Amino acid sequence: MKAISYILPSMAYGGDYNPEQWEENVWYEDAVLMKKAGVNLVSVGIFSWAVLEREEGRFDFTWLDKVMDILHEHGVGVCLATATASPPAWLSRNYPESLAVDSSGVRYSFGSRQHYSPNSPVYRKAVKKLVTKLAERYKDHPALKMWHINNEYGCHVSECYSPDSLEAFRAWLRRRYTTVDTLNEKWGTNFWSQRYNYFDDVTFLNNTPTFPNPGQQLDYKRFMNDSLFELYLLEKKILRDITPGVPVFTNFMFEFKPLNYFSWARELDVVTWDTYPDPREGTPEAHAMQHDLMRSLKDGQPFLVMEQVTSHVNWRDINVPKKPGEMRLWSYSATARGSDGIMFFQWRQSRAGAEKFHGAMVPHSGDENSRTYREVQQLGEELKLLDSLTGAVVPAKAAIIFDWENWWAVEMEGKPHNKLSYLEQVKTYYHTFYKQNIAVDFVQPGSDLSSYHFVAAPMLYMLKDGEEKNLENYVGEGGTLVVSFFSGIVDENDRIHLGYYPEPLRHVLGMHVEEFVPMAEADTNQLSAGTDHYRCTTWSDVIHLDTAEAAAYFTGDWYQGRPAVTTNPYGKGKAVYVGTEPEQAFIDDLLTGLMREKGITPPAFAPQNVEIVERTSGKGRHLVIVNHNQEETRIELESGRSYVDLLTGTEVENEVIVQAVDVLVLREAEQK
Ligand code: GAL
Repeated sequence: MKAISYILPSMAYGGDYNPEQWEENVWYEDAVLMKKAGVNLVSVGIFSWAVLEREEGRFDFTWLDKVMDILHEHGVGVCLATATASPPAWLSRNYPESLAVDSSGVRYSFGSRQHYSPNSPVYRKAVKKLVTKLAERYKDHPALKMWHINNEYGCHVSECYSPDSLEAFRAWLRRRYTTVDTLNEKWGTNFWSQRYNYFDDVTFLNNTPTFPNPGQQLDYKRFMNDSLFELYLLEKKILRDITPGVPVFTNFMFEFKPLNYFSWARELDVVTWDTYPDPREGTPEAHAMQHDLMRSLKDGQPFLVMEQVTSHVNWRDINVPKKPGEMRLWSYSATARGSDGIMFFQWRQSRAGAEKFHGAMVPHSGDENSRTYREVQQLGEELKLLDSLTGAVVPAKAAIIFDWENWWAVEMEGKPHNKLSYLEQVKTYYHTFYKQNIAVDFVQPGSDLSSYHFVAAPMLYMLKDGEEKNLENYVGEGGTLVVSFFSGIVDENDRIHLGYYPEPLRHVLGMHVEEFVPMAEADTNQLSAGTDHYRCTTWSDVIHLDTAEAAAYFTGDWYQGRPAVTTNPYGKGKAVYVGTEPEQAFIDDLLTGLMREKGITPPAFAPQNVEIVERTSGKGRHLVIVNHNQEETRIELESGRSYVDLLTGTEVENEVIVQAVDVLVLREAEQK
């Protein structure tokens, strides 16, 4: 199945469209305004179940038929939703057991959204019926471009404790372990007398007096991920059978822990995600990291921003609007990092309901001269000039290992340090790349790493079977690997890899850790690296060298003078271990030095808060430059190459000026 660039000939532009909230005359107005704004794709029907199936089995498609026709007549494609994210009142009335149950054992009530239990057979049956009807009805409609399956799976309910879920959990365990003895062994249930005699003895861990069994907790997270994924696959199968040529996807979320998006992405034709940076936070670096992650989920295939907001959301404590120009700038940040379009939540600002104060492409005033609509229109016009960018990839020679199961495991309680944040550790490493505009992908510990010269593995606590060999081979073949503290500690069931830490990586790292020394929040230590000194916090490892050399030492506490950072030549490559959380400057210096050794450089050098990303395809090599600063910036380009500025059509070479809060999209001209 094909990426977005094959579905639409140009950048996708549009948003969630909820015509059921409006009278029919507004639909015509909408279509005209969409056309004027350059909209070519809208997601219709995400929360329409109640108006599509008014009572069980009583379907009404007349309004949707009309909407589809109007959109098509105005040249707007439809990303048709399967409408399953919010079941109607009749489902909870007739089948209360279809409602999800929270961790205190209380059923969610109807009247908001996403209240269904993912493991409810009733919900699943109703989903099948609705999706089949929709697919059959619209399979030949010319407006249908893609299927938007459900919406943000797990957003509100990522855990369910209903009787249906318990039964499904036990069945899941039977499939995974076959015998209860295996389950007992994998979960280490001889500890605290937790042994089970039968699979049916297993209950939920939602109200244990103290720390629950870690192996069981981890498997519950896997199970919930799989339950939601089954829902997606169930819908996908119906859609594939009836509309084999229409791409399918669901939309992912920001820093979303409950779902292992790497495994989901394999079943999506296009990765799409919803990005809502808080304007109060300034430069949206964390969202840039998510763009890079989303691009990485399908091995570098361009993704699509499925939702962002024009101005402000309504779900933060204080909802500050994006300043003039910021929406455009952040859209380009996404585009630079691999998005083949920009979509918003939502088209027209709602009149009623919980999101009526959430921004939209058309504000309450409905005014074409509003700042919001004008900015929407400008971006729409500009994206039309960027056809050659669609399908282009971001060539990266460096990667950061990111693993969802590791995220789940390392943040469960009972650790030497119980305030560790996996994402914060990853972000520290990502920051060096972001700041220097060095392209970086995210990979899994078992991924093929052969195309990368440099790989960082921050806090890779869990190492599953075979992953240590993958890392070892990577270094052996010439790669540079950086591993940070509390890595290589447990297997996939959260059982210790016995020996000195990190046992599976001892060989490649050439060192071992005898003891962990977590630090209280206010405590610091210091690293000395040659003549330089850096602050470090959070954690120290008491390290012994085997074949590695020390690259930095601790200067304080009872382990002073012991190595803090080590380097080990291994095969044709090098493995570096960082046994603490050093201040950012140290990570920057370390990573910059290692990348320089490998010839990894940015496409151009730029001052702080200026993003430069290369996107390349058969249609050309592009540089997207995003200046977040309030003053203009001058960028020197590689000499001997000339470019076309795609937004103005002018030719540039040697250097460019990017105005304050502005962007440039350059395409390298054909060599003369
Ligand atoms: C998303 C969701 C949309 C809308 C939006 C508001 O999480 O998919 O339906 O609620 O948030 O920001």
